[in-house]
Amino acid sequence: MAVAFDASRVTVVDHPLVQHKLSILRDERTGTTQFRDLVRELARFEAYEATRDLPLEDVEITTPICTTTAKQISDRKLAVVPILRAGLGMVDGVLDLIPAARVGHLGMYRDEVTHEPHEYYAKLPGDIAERTCLVVDPMLATGGSATAALQYLRAQGATDVRFLCIVAAPEGLAAALEADPDVHIYTCSIDEGLNDAAYIVPGLGDAGDRIFGTL
Ligand code: PRP
Ligand code: URA
Repeated sequence: MAVAFDASRVTVVDHPLVQHKLSILRDERTGTTQFRDLVRELARFEAYEATRDLPLEDVEITTPICTTTAKQISDRKLAVVPILRAGLGMVDGVLDLIPAARVGHLGMYRDEVTHEPHEYYAKLPGDIAERTCLVVDPMLATGGSATAALQYLRAQGATDVRFLCIVAAPEGLAAALEADPDVHIYTCSIDEGLNDAAYIVPGLGDAGDRIFGTL
C-alpha cells in the first residue's frame, strides 16, 4: 500500500536540469569528484526554491542611466544546518546563493542494524531562534535522522525550518512531516521506497560514502 504524506508541505524541485543532473548522480559509474560537484549544484537549485518567499524591500539606486527604485532582500537572517556527514556536501551549494548565512552542524549517524539515528555532535549559531534554518541532508530514508535533527532545532527555539534533501522515500517524508507539523520539505525526487536495509530505492546508494570516497 502507498505511504501517505501531506503533499502540500513537500516541494519537488523537478526542473529538467535537476532531473538530468540527478540521473548522473544516481549512476553507479559516477565517481567521487563529479558526485560531490553534482550534490553542490543540486543543493543550489533547491536553495533557490526554498528561499523563494524571502521578503524584499525597496532601495534607491543609481544606474549608469538614472536613479531608480530597486529591490533587495530585507534584513533576514539565515542558517544552513547540515546533518553530518553527507549534509556537508550540500553546504557550499547553499552558500553559493546566500554567502552571509551562518552554518550550524548536527552530527548524526544511522545504526546499520536498527536504522535508528545517533546524535554525536551539535553546534548551532547562538541566535538560531531568529534565523530561517535550511537543514540539509541528501537522503531522507526512514526519516529518523531528519526527525531527530528537527526536534533538536525546535528545542533550541528554531521556528522557521525548511528541510532540503536530494532524494526522499515516501516513508521518510511521512515520518518527518508527522513529527514536525511546521516543516516544509524540498526534494529533487520522491523515490519508490526502502529496501530491507532501509536504503532508498532506486536511490543513489550511500550518499556520505560517495561524497567522501569512503566506499
Ligand atoms: C545517511 C543520510 C541521512 C540518513 C538518512 O546518513 O545522510 O543522514 O542516513 O537515513 P534515515 O532517514 O533512515 O535516518 P548516515 O547515517 O549514513 O551517516 P553519514 O552521513 O555519516 O554517512
Ligand atoms: N542513507 C544513505 O546514504 N542512502 C540511503 O539510501 C539511505 C540512507
